[in-house]
Amino acid sequence: HTVDLTFADGTKTVSVPAGSTVLEAATAAGVRLVSQCTVGTCGTCVGKVVRGDLAMPQDRVFSLRQDEIREGQRLLCQSVAYADSEVELDYPASMLDEYPLVAATAKVGAITWLGESVVELVLKLPKSVRFAFRAGQYVRMQVPGTEEWRSYSMASGERDRKKLAFTIRVLPSGAMSDYLRNVAAVGDTIEIEGPSGGFGLSDEPGPTLMIAGGTGLAPMLSMLENLQTAREDHPIRLVFGCAREADLFHLDELEARRSFMRALDVRVVSDEPTSIDGVLTGNPVSVLTEDDVRDPRTSAYLCGPPAMLAAAHDRLVELGLPAERIHAEQFLPS
Ligand code: FES
Repeated sequence: HTVDLTFADGTKTVSVPAGSTVLEAATAAGVRLVSQCTVGTCGTCVGKVVRGDLAMPQDRVFSLRQDEIREGQRLLCQSVAYADSEVELDYPASMLDEYPLVAATAKVGAITWLGESVVELVLKLPKSVRFAFRAGQYVRMQVPGTEEWRSYSMASGERDRKKLAFTIRVLPSGAMSDYLRNVAAVGDTIEIEGPSGGFGLSDEPGPTLMIAGGTGLAPMLSMLENLQTAREDHPIRLVFGCAREADLFHLDELEARRSFMRALDVRVVSDEPTSIDGVLTGNPVSVLTEDDVRDPRTSAYLCGPPAMLAAAHDRLVELGLPAERIHAEQFLPS
Protein backbone atom coordinates (compact mmCIF):
# COMPACT_ATOMS: atom_id res chain seq x y z
CA HIS A 1 0.00 0.00 0.00
CA THR A 2 1.07 3.59 -0.47
CA VAL A 3 1.29 6.02 2.40
CA ASP A 4 1.27 9.78 1.77
CA LEU A 5 3.46 11.41 4.40
CA THR A 6 2.29 15.00 4.69
CA PHE A 7 4.96 17.15 6.31
CA ALA A 8 4.51 20.78 7.27
CA ASP A 9 6.16 21.67 3.94
CA GLY A 10 4.71 19.13 1.52
CA THR A 11 3.78 15.51 0.88
CA LYS A 12 5.99 12.54 -0.01
CA THR A 13 4.49 9.22 -1.02
CA VAL A 14 6.13 5.94 -0.06
CA SER A 15 5.08 2.44 -0.87
CA VAL A 16 5.00 0.22 2.22
CA PRO A 17 5.48 -3.47 1.36
CA ALA A 18 3.79 -6.14 3.50
CA GLY A 19 5.96 -6.92 6.50
CA SER A 20 7.64 -3.47 6.57
CA THR A 21 6.89 -0.68 8.96
CA VAL A 22 6.23 2.80 7.61
CA LEU A 23 9.55 3.96 9.09
CA GLU A 24 11.47 1.15 7.37
CA ALA A 25 9.76 1.78 4.04
CA ALA A 26 10.31 5.54 4.25
CA THR A 27 13.99 5.08 5.14
CA ALA A 28 14.45 2.65 2.25
CA ALA A 29 12.84 5.21 -0.09
CA GLY A 30 15.19 7.95 1.12
CA VAL A 31 12.47 9.83 3.04
CA ARG A 32 13.81 10.70 6.46
CA LEU A 33 11.45 10.64 9.44
CA VAL A 34 12.07 11.77 12.99
CA SER A 35 12.72 8.63 15.05
CA GLN A 36 15.01 7.47 17.77
CA CYS A 37 14.46 4.16 19.54
CA THR A 38 12.69 2.30 16.67
CA VAL A 39 11.11 -0.04 19.26
CA GLY A 40 8.02 1.90 20.33
CA THR A 41 9.23 3.49 23.54
CA CYS A 42 10.33 7.05 22.80
CA GLY A 43 7.27 8.37 20.95
CA THR A 44 9.31 10.62 18.64
CA CYS A 45 8.11 8.93 15.42
CA VAL A 46 4.44 9.74 15.98
CA GLY A 47 2.23 10.75 13.06
CA LYS A 48 -1.52 11.20 12.67
CA VAL A 49 -3.53 9.08 10.23
CA VAL A 50 -6.04 11.30 8.42
CA ARG A 51 -7.04 8.83 5.69
CA GLY A 52 -6.93 5.05 5.45
CA ASP A 53 -5.45 3.18 8.40
CA LEU A 54 -2.20 1.92 9.88
CA ALA A 55 -2.08 -0.93 12.36
CA MET A 56 0.28 -1.28 15.32
CA PRO A 57 0.87 -4.37 17.46
CA GLN A 58 -0.79 -3.40 20.76
CA ASP A 59 1.90 -5.01 22.92
CA ARG A 60 4.72 -3.04 21.27
CA VAL A 61 3.27 0.45 21.71
CA PHE A 62 4.47 1.95 24.93
CA SER A 63 4.26 5.66 24.40
CA LEU A 64 0.74 6.32 23.12
CA ARG A 65 -2.46 6.37 25.15
CA GLN A 66 -5.59 4.57 23.93
CA ASP A 67 -7.39 7.87 23.28
CA GLU A 68 -4.43 9.09 21.18
CA ILE A 69 -4.60 5.88 19.16
CA ARG A 70 -8.35 6.39 18.71
CA GLU A 71 -7.65 9.92 17.45
CA GLY A 72 -5.46 8.40 14.74
CA GLN A 73 -1.99 8.80 16.23
CA ARG A 74 0.44 6.06 15.28
CA LEU A 75 4.09 5.26 15.98
CA LEU A 76 5.54 4.95 12.51
CA CYS A 77 8.33 2.63 13.72
CA GLN A 78 5.62 0.12 14.69
CA SER A 79 2.94 0.72 12.06
CA VAL A 80 2.16 -1.38 9.01
CA ALA A 81 -0.18 -0.31 6.20
CA TYR A 82 -3.39 -2.24 5.51
CA ALA A 83 -4.84 0.42 3.20
CA ASP A 84 -3.64 3.39 1.16
CA SER A 85 -3.27 6.03 3.83
CA GLU A 86 -2.25 9.57 4.61
CA VAL A 87 -0.27 10.50 7.69
CA GLU A 88 0.29 14.05 8.90
CA LEU A 89 3.59 14.97 10.55
CA ASP A 90 3.97 18.24 12.36
CA TYR A 91 7.50 19.06 11.21
CA PRO A 92 8.86 20.05 7.81
CA ALA A 93 10.64 17.35 5.75
CA SER A 94 13.37 19.90 5.06
CA MET A 95 14.17 19.97 8.79
CA LEU A 96 16.13 16.72 8.70
CA ASP A 97 18.27 17.93 5.79
CA GLU A 98 18.80 21.33 7.34
CA TYR A 99 19.76 19.88 10.71
CA PRO A 100 21.72 16.70 9.98
CA LEU A 101 22.60 14.28 12.75
CA VAL A 102 26.20 14.64 13.91
CA ALA A 103 28.28 12.86 16.52
CA ALA A 104 30.83 14.99 18.36
CA THR A 105 32.97 15.20 21.45
CA ALA A 106 31.90 18.26 23.44
CA LYS A 107 33.62 19.87 26.41
CA VAL A 108 31.89 20.93 29.60
CA GLY A 109 32.03 24.74 29.61
CA ALA A 110 30.07 25.39 32.79
CA ILE A 111 28.07 23.60 35.49
CA THR A 112 25.72 25.94 37.34
CA TRP A 113 23.24 24.93 40.02
CA LEU A 114 20.03 26.83 39.29
CA GLY A 115 18.36 25.76 42.50
CA GLU A 116 18.37 22.80 44.85
CA SER A 117 17.74 20.23 42.17
CA VAL A 118 18.46 21.66 38.71
CA VAL A 119 21.79 22.10 36.99
CA GLU A 120 22.53 24.11 33.89
CA LEU A 121 25.12 22.25 31.88
CA VAL A 122 26.87 24.19 29.11
CA LEU A 123 28.66 22.15 26.47
CA LYS A 124 31.11 23.63 23.99
CA LEU A 125 31.51 22.08 20.56
CA PRO A 126 34.83 21.97 18.72
CA LYS A 127 35.22 24.55 15.94
CA SER A 128 35.53 21.78 13.35
CA VAL A 129 32.01 20.44 14.04
CA ARG A 130 29.14 21.81 11.97
CA PHE A 131 26.15 21.50 14.23
CA ALA A 132 22.77 23.13 13.62
CA PHE A 133 19.44 22.51 15.31
CA ARG A 134 15.88 23.76 15.37
CA ALA A 135 14.72 25.25 18.68
CA GLY A 136 12.77 22.50 20.45
CA GLN A 137 15.09 19.64 19.42
CA TYR A 138 17.26 17.55 21.71
CA VAL A 139 20.58 15.70 21.68
CA ARG A 140 21.64 12.42 23.21
CA MET A 141 24.70 12.52 25.41
CA GLN A 142 26.77 9.81 27.01
CA VAL A 143 27.15 10.10 30.76
CA PRO A 144 30.96 10.30 31.23
CA GLY A 145 32.49 7.17 32.71
CA THR A 146 29.43 5.04 31.87
CA GLU A 147 27.80 3.36 28.89
CA GLU A 148 24.55 5.23 29.60
CA TRP A 149 23.04 7.75 27.18
CA ARG A 150 20.45 10.39 28.05
CA SER A 151 18.47 12.83 25.93
CA TYR A 152 18.08 16.52 26.76
CA SER A 153 16.51 19.41 24.90
CA MET A 154 18.62 22.45 24.17
CA ALA A 155 17.67 25.40 26.38
CA SER A 156 19.87 27.74 24.38
CA GLY A 157 18.76 29.38 21.15
CA GLU A 158 19.30 27.85 17.73
CA ARG A 159 21.59 30.67 16.62
CA ASP A 160 24.22 29.64 19.17
CA ARG A 161 25.63 26.52 17.53
CA LYS A 162 28.95 26.20 19.33
CA LYS A 163 27.72 26.46 22.91
CA LEU A 164 24.69 24.43 23.96
CA ALA A 165 22.91 24.85 27.30
CA PHE A 166 20.80 22.18 29.00
CA THR A 167 18.74 22.32 32.19
CA ILE A 168 18.90 18.95 33.93
CA ARG A 169 16.99 17.79 36.99
CA VAL A 170 19.34 16.17 39.52
CA LEU A 171 17.56 13.26 41.15
CA PRO A 172 18.63 11.39 44.31
CA SER A 173 20.12 8.70 42.09
CA GLY A 174 20.70 8.01 38.41
CA ALA A 175 23.69 7.99 36.09
CA MET A 176 23.54 11.63 34.95
CA SER A 177 22.45 12.87 38.38
CA ASP A 178 25.35 11.07 40.10
CA TYR A 179 27.79 12.43 37.53
CA LEU A 180 26.56 16.03 37.87
CA ARG A 181 26.45 15.91 41.66
CA ASN A 182 29.74 14.18 42.37
CA VAL A 183 32.07 14.13 39.42
CA ALA A 184 31.38 16.75 36.75
CA ALA A 185 34.05 19.37 36.18
CA VAL A 186 34.62 22.10 33.62
CA GLY A 187 36.77 20.67 30.82
CA ASP A 188 35.30 17.12 30.97
CA THR A 189 34.52 15.63 27.58
CA ILE A 190 31.05 14.34 26.74
CA GLU A 191 30.05 12.44 23.59
CA ILE A 192 26.93 13.87 22.02
CA GLU A 193 24.75 12.86 19.09
CA GLY A 194 22.04 14.98 17.55
CA PRO A 195 20.01 16.94 16.92
CA SER A 196 16.86 14.81 17.08
CA GLY A 197 13.15 15.33 17.54
CA GLY A 198 10.33 17.04 15.70
CA PHE A 199 9.25 19.43 18.47
CA GLY A 200 9.41 23.08 17.50
CA LEU A 201 7.42 26.15 16.56
CA SER A 202 4.89 25.74 13.78
CA ASP A 203 4.76 28.32 11.02
CA GLU A 204 1.09 29.07 11.69
CA PRO A 205 0.58 32.69 12.67
CA GLY A 206 -1.29 33.31 15.93
CA PRO A 207 -0.85 33.39 19.68
CA THR A 208 1.55 30.99 21.37
CA LEU A 209 0.76 29.06 24.55
CA MET A 210 3.66 27.19 26.14
CA ILE A 211 3.05 24.77 29.01
CA ALA A 212 6.14 23.43 30.75
CA GLY A 213 6.51 21.04 33.67
CA GLY A 214 9.88 21.11 35.47
CA THR A 215 12.84 20.93 33.10
CA GLY A 216 10.32 20.85 30.26
CA LEU A 217 11.04 24.58 30.38
CA ALA A 218 14.27 24.00 28.42
CA PRO A 219 12.89 23.78 24.86
CA MET A 220 10.51 26.66 25.61
CA LEU A 221 13.47 28.92 26.45
CA SER A 222 15.09 27.94 23.18
CA MET A 223 11.90 28.61 21.19
CA LEU A 224 11.31 31.92 22.97
CA GLU A 225 14.51 33.21 21.41
CA ASN A 226 12.93 32.79 17.97
CA LEU A 227 9.71 34.44 19.09
CA GLN A 228 11.58 37.43 20.44
CA THR A 229 11.82 38.92 16.98
CA ALA A 230 9.20 37.04 15.00
CA ARG A 231 5.86 37.24 16.76
CA GLU A 232 5.73 40.35 18.88
CA ASP A 233 2.29 41.11 17.45
CA HIS A 234 0.67 37.98 18.93
CA PRO A 235 0.45 37.20 22.65
CA ILE A 236 2.89 34.60 23.98
CA ARG A 237 1.88 32.87 27.19
CA LEU A 238 4.24 30.65 29.14
CA VAL A 239 2.93 28.53 32.00
CA PHE A 240 5.72 26.91 34.02
CA GLY A 241 5.13 24.64 36.98
CA CYS A 242 7.03 22.54 39.48
CA ALA A 243 5.94 20.46 42.47
CA ARG A 244 7.69 22.50 45.16
CA GLU A 245 9.32 25.87 45.66
CA ALA A 246 12.72 24.15 45.85
CA ASP A 247 12.22 22.71 42.36
CA LEU A 248 11.55 26.06 40.66
CA PHE A 249 14.42 27.59 38.70
CA HIS A 250 15.20 30.33 36.18
CA LEU A 251 12.62 32.70 37.69
CA ASP A 252 15.03 35.64 37.21
CA GLU A 253 15.63 34.57 33.64
CA LEU A 254 11.88 34.48 32.97
CA GLU A 255 11.44 37.88 34.58
CA ALA A 256 14.22 39.30 32.41
CA ARG A 257 12.61 37.90 29.27
CA ARG A 258 9.25 39.31 30.27
CA SER A 259 10.81 42.74 30.70
CA PHE A 260 12.12 42.86 27.15
CA MET A 261 9.41 40.87 25.33
CA ARG A 262 6.31 43.02 25.25
CA ALA A 263 4.05 40.16 24.12
CA LEU A 264 5.21 37.67 26.76
CA ASP A 265 3.13 36.76 29.78
CA VAL A 266 4.64 34.29 32.28
CA ARG A 267 2.63 32.32 34.84
CA VAL A 268 4.66 30.32 37.38
CA VAL A 269 2.89 27.72 39.50
CA SER A 270 3.81 25.30 42.26
CA ASP A 271 1.77 22.36 43.56
CA GLU A 272 2.78 23.27 47.09
CA PRO A 273 2.18 26.85 48.23
CA THR A 274 5.36 28.97 48.15
CA SER A 275 6.53 32.20 49.72
CA ILE A 276 7.65 33.58 46.34
CA ASP A 277 5.79 36.66 45.16
CA GLY A 278 3.64 36.05 42.10
CA VAL A 279 3.91 32.24 42.13
CA LEU A 280 0.44 30.70 41.98
CA THR A 281 -0.53 27.51 43.79
CA GLY A 282 -1.60 24.79 41.39
CA ASN A 283 -0.22 23.01 38.38
CA PRO A 284 0.30 24.13 34.78
CA VAL A 285 -3.01 22.50 33.80
CA SER A 286 -5.23 23.72 36.65
CA VAL A 287 -4.40 27.36 35.92
CA LEU A 288 -5.39 27.20 32.23
CA THR A 289 -8.47 29.23 31.32
CA GLU A 290 -10.68 29.73 28.28
CA ASP A 291 -8.95 33.02 27.74
CA ASP A 292 -5.67 31.16 27.03
CA VAL A 293 -7.17 29.59 23.90
CA ARG A 294 -9.84 32.16 22.99
CA ASP A 295 -8.10 32.92 19.69
CA PRO A 296 -8.67 29.84 17.48
CA ARG A 297 -5.27 30.46 15.83
CA THR A 298 -3.49 29.66 19.13
CA SER A 299 -0.72 27.06 18.89
CA ALA A 300 0.04 25.20 22.11
CA TYR A 301 3.40 23.61 22.98
CA LEU A 302 3.68 21.17 25.85
CA CYS A 303 6.78 19.66 27.42
CA GLY A 304 7.00 17.73 30.65
CA PRO A 305 6.25 14.37 32.23
CA PRO A 306 3.71 12.12 30.43
CA ALA A 307 0.91 12.58 32.99
CA MET A 308 1.13 16.37 32.69
CA LEU A 309 1.10 16.19 28.90
CA ALA A 310 -1.98 13.99 28.88
CA ALA A 311 -3.83 16.25 31.32
CA ALA A 312 -2.83 19.42 29.46
CA HIS A 313 -3.86 17.95 26.12
CA ASP A 314 -7.29 16.93 27.44
CA ARG A 315 -7.84 20.28 29.13
CA LEU A 316 -6.91 22.28 26.02
CA VAL A 317 -9.26 20.21 23.88
CA GLU A 318 -11.99 20.68 26.51
CA LEU A 319 -11.38 24.44 26.39
CA GLY A 320 -11.94 24.31 22.63
CA LEU A 321 -8.45 24.16 21.11
CA PRO A 322 -8.32 21.80 18.09
CA ALA A 323 -6.02 18.82 18.78
CA GLU A 324 -3.91 19.62 15.70
CA ARG A 325 -2.95 22.91 17.31
CA ILE A 326 -1.31 21.05 20.19
CA HIS A 327 2.37 20.08 19.88
CA ALA A 328 3.93 17.99 22.61
CA GLU A 329 7.31 16.65 23.65
CA GLN A 330 7.44 14.19 26.47
CA PHE A 331 10.46 13.54 28.67
CA LEU A 332 12.25 10.65 27.08
CA PRO A 333 12.68 7.52 29.15
CA SER A 334 16.29 7.16 30.30
FE1 FES B 1 9.13 5.00 17.24
FE2 FES B 1 10.79 5.56 19.23
S1 FES B 1 11.16 5.68 17.11
S2 FES B 1 8.68 5.08 19.33
